[in-house]
Amino acid sequence: MIKTPITENFLQNALQTEVFGRGLVEIRERISSTNIRAKKMALAGAGEGTLVVAESQTAGRGRLGRIWHSPPGLNIYFSLILKPEIPPPRIPLLTLTAGLAGSSAIGSLIGQAPSVKWPNDLLLQNRKIAGILAEMDIKDSRVSFVILGIGINVNLAEQDLPPDLRNQAGSLLISTGKTWDRTEILASLLGELERYYRLLCQGRYDEILGQYRQVCQTLKTRVRFVQQETVIEGTAIDVGQSGELIVERAGDGEILYLNAGEVSSLPAEPEEP
Ligand code: BTN
Repeated sequence: MIKTPITENFLQNALQTEVFGRGLVEIRERISSTNIRAKKMALAGAGEGTLVVAESQTAGRGRLGRIWHSPPGLNIYFSLILKPEIPPPRIPLLTLTAGLAGSSAIGSLIGQAPSVKWPNDLLLQNRKIAGILAEMDIKDSRVSFVILGIGINVNLAEQDLPPDLRNQAGSLLISTGKTWDRTEILASLLGELERYYRLLCQGRYDEILGQYRQVCQTLKTRVRFVQQETVIEGTAIDVGQSGELIVERAGDGEILYLNAGEVSSLPAEPEEP
């Protein structure tokens, strides 16, 4: 039995959105993955802003084919159906926008804004507290919808983490020592997501990118980028117009535009004597 479940009634009272979470809302105790469910609903015609929330997931999906640890009652797992009418090359900005919205919403609630590890992992005290998975559906070379799935570790304690995730993953509880109201966090996040999504749909890309650069901890650091067989080391110098990470490669100084891989931080190079 979950102590304080997320209910539609509580959620509707806390929400300040116009579209997100205002139409079709499904709240499930247990599901394979909210992204899978939301995709089914979108294929059956569900509209923008449709929301699927679960108390636990049996096959929560992470980026790059990983599993998202989804125990019951402690965290937030949800997916939104989006139908962004923006030029296809700008679609990757959606995930950066979601990271920015997450940092802003959580920061206002808990008083310390998570930083964003490119493209969209939210970190507190260098431990990942939230992940974002955007999955696109393309029809006739057009994006017909995007499922934006977000998982936030809220009241998860150190002992709730599997050993391989300890030190690496965190939660709001681990960082602040307090338990948090999940409905309040979800409502506030949906509010910030809707606000930033509107900016995106209005074409205000520079505003989004400008704010993203402020919270992105990857910039101006040395990084290792891995995408399948490709490994690149260098300095992350900027984020480009489509959300790509711009890296100056160590050694030859070549400027590379990187998408969709995994980035990790390298220690700073020692200063010249
Ligand atoms: C990542 O690897 O960082 C992305 C994690 C995304 C997890 C969320 S939880 C809700 C939604 N449903 C899923 O199956 N995955 C996303």
